[in-house]
Amino acid sequence: MASFDPPSKILIFGGTGKIGAYITEALLSASPPFPHVALFTSEETARSKAALLSGWESRGLSVIKGDVTDKAQVQAAYATGVDAVVSALGRNVLLHQTDLIRWAEEQEGGSVRWFFPSEYGTDIEYGPSSAGERPHQNKLAVRRFIKDEVRRLKNTFLVTGPYAEMYLNLIPGVPEGGGFDVKGKKAVLLEDGNGKVGVGKGVVAALRHPEAALDKVLKIQSFVVTPREILAAFEKHTGGEPWAVEYVPLDKLRAVEEQLWKDGNPIATGPTLRRIWGEGSTLYEKTDNEAIGLRGEDLESLDDVVRSAVEESRGARQ
Ligand SMILES: NC(=O)c1ccc[n+]([C@@H]2O[C@H](COP(=O)([O-])OP(=O)(O)OC[C@H]3O[C@@H](n4cnc5c(N)ncnc54)[C@H](OP(=O)(O)O)[C@@H]3O)[C@@H](O)[C@H]2O)c1
Repeated sequence: MASFDPPSKILIFGGTGKIGAYITEALLSASPPFPHVALFTSEETARSKAALLSGWESRGLSVIKGDVTDKAQVQAAYATGVDAVVSALGRNVLLHQTDLIRWAEEQEGGSVRWFFPSEYGTDIEYGPSSAGERPHQNKLAVRRFIKDEVRRLKNTFLVTGPYAEMYLNLIPGVPEGGGFDVKGKKAVLLEDGNGKVGVGKGVVAALRHPEAALDKVLKIQSFVVTPREILAAFEKHTGGEPWAVEYVPLDKLRAVEEQLWKDGNPIATGPTLRRIWGEGSTLYEKTDNEAIGLRGEDLESLDDVVRSAVEESRGARQ
């Protein structure tokens, strides 16, 4: 492959969202810093998240306000010299990424060379059953579009398994999905609580290593853990007393999940992903951590995320 210079101007879509905010934060904290980081967001978000954005602007972020569905506005943002685009758009707008990618592909001058579609989660091509999983359909369609239609742009799909912060909580109204209630000192574990789950995140490392990341599906993990190990960490960080524990068989979760889909309940995605994780579909013999230079000391640990979940819950109680 011809040499590919690391990107110098990165544009983020969805960078104030649940996952996007972690990505924006990581891009702005990167050392050495990226020369330019810009974020494209709606006027409405710019108003409602003004404090967050002005904090980031003081650390060098450029904010571009516009409508993500407006070709001229998006291409004007690309034309500011953007060479890499990181999309963290939410699930309900995933298909719109095909336009964002097409507009980059057609861009005059072609400054955009690299696109990260919004993934950052479950491996949508883990095995034969992945193709039929309902939450995967829009992400699969984006991958198909890229395979069939994209010729110039390079792409990277970042598969992280659950973000720890998303995995630890109980899903409101669906306790069968499993999780941990710090205030109530209560855990709901899938099956016997010994099924391993891989948890992680990491965009900066991929951007720093084009040679390992271009046109790849990268599997990145911070740690692999069982729900029982998470429980033990929570008990340690909340005074050592045992928590109340409930076990939910995967079949019970499957039944709840089916009903939610049948009812058209938008919350159904969460329990389905918990079931997929509980089935072991985040486990690999080898990850791509090393290929993009992620070492143990760069990665968050179970202890880190449990400690911050406990601190957050104590903060919320005050
Ligand atoms: N691994 C995990 O545990 C995990 C957990 C959650 C999500 N994810 C994945 O991470 C990615 C981002 O998900 P998220 O939950 O962070 O997304 P989100 O917070 O729901 O939305 C992210 C951003 O998308 C834009 N957006 C959302 N709805 C829109 C609409 N109707 N029209 C225009 N823009 C819209 C908004 O950007 P602006 O407001 O800036 O315009 C919003 O801040 C997805 O691929 C998701 O599957 C992974």
